[in-house]
Amino acid sequence: MANYDIADIKLATEGKKRIEWADANMPVVQKIRSRFTKEKPLKGINISACLHVTTETANLMRTLKAGGANCALCASNPLSTQDGVAASLVRDYGIAVYAINAENKKTYYKHIHQTLDIGPQITMDDGADLVSTIHSERQELIEDIIAGTEETTTGVIRLRAMAADEALAFPVVAVNDSKTKHFFDNRYGTGQSTLDGIIRATNHLFAGSTVVVAGYGWCGRGFAVRAAGMGAHVIVTEVDAVKGIEAAMDGFRVMPMAKAAPLGDVFVTLTGDINVIRPEHFIKMKNGAIVCNSGHFNVELDIEGLAKIARSVRTVRPFVEEYRLLNRRCVFILGEGRLINLAAAEGHPAIVMDMSFANQALGAEYLVGLKKPLENDVHVIPEKIDDLIAKMKLETMGIKIDRLTPEQKQYLVSWEMGT
Ligand code: ADE
Repeated sequence: MANYDIADIKLATEGKKRIEWADANMPVVQKIRSRFTKEKPLKGINISACLHVTTETANLMRTLKAGGANCALCASNPLSTQDGVAASLVRDYGIAVYAINAENKKTYYKHIHQTLDIGPQITMDDGADLVSTIHSERQELIEDIIAGTEETTTGVIRLRAMAADEALAFPVVAVNDSKTKHFFDNRYGTGQSTLDGIIRATNHLFAGSTVVVAGYGWCGRGFAVRAAGMGAHVIVTEVDAVKGIEAAMDGFRVMPMAKAAPLGDVFVTLTGDINVIRPEHFIKMKNGAIVCNSGHFNVELDIEGLAKIARSVRTVRPFVEEYRLLNRRCVFILGEGRLINLAAAEGHPAIVMDMSFANQALGAEYLVGLKKPLENDVHVIPEKIDDLIAKMKLETMGIKIDRLTPEQKQYLVSWEMGT
């Protein structure tokens, strides 16, 4: 059995059933896995992965292992680990896992180091914690690293900042930037799973409720549309003028957070930036307002600032903390401000993670097969791979689309043909 530090190996039987349940909805990853089993494109490659330890991630790990890789996995968030999945990965699939649900900060970083101890040629990140640990504390690993992959918008922002500072010591591929990733995972995955997390934590009725959505990127858009679909009145806050227009033309009210604060029943941040909701906003909120974050890191709500204007704090249900404020109103914070879709629910459904993780698997194959090393910068997955994933997904959905006729192809590349 592989090395591990997990909650309880006895949870493996339950975890295996759940992994198989998700696998049934990951046909593209399944196809890649059967090809990898035959071709072994990752033979002998060490992969350190820091991803949410979910059923979907388990199926990615199985696929990388089928391709011949030697994998170690830790959590990319202390609250998102599914302990049964971690146990089954160790017992049934021979993957080294270092992740325990609700682990503290010290254990979280200890697990990151244990995952790196295999000496990776490829790193796989969701939030860039491996990359930043390697650069700050494990520089001896850099010379063996071919490249890294990054799953999420927040991580890509961090990596682009490192590249701009010329601080990035190995190349990284932004899986997030593939069309078959962000158009679907960020929009439909975050959209639905954020609603799911809020509902599981609170049993809140969205119909007739005023929902404030901070950030109108792909995740914010996805969530806003789904909340509106449930009958909520949606208000969007933005800092980007174009996105502000887009939200307005999509039919939402757009205003600064200071104006939205007294109006909302539910607040969700999906921005990737810090302190989006601050004490000056909390103090204006209605009694009983529900506030949560669905961005990658727990930095979007200023909870320390909130604690300073609170008379008391108590847990009222799992994932729900009541802050009674100096003005006697109370505000409910969900999941300690950590990403609510993975803290209180199960993250994105397998059908959408199928494409995201197809990008991870084919991205790793692409990096290992490169004839010439990439520059130390942030790259995207070649469009050919992105298109291939789209075609495979469409096929598994039983959907056929048209093809350009030779005449139409010619028209698109000529300027002399008449209009
Ligand atoms: N990120 C969001 N949802 C996820 C899931 N179900 N598995 C892994 N990473 C995720």
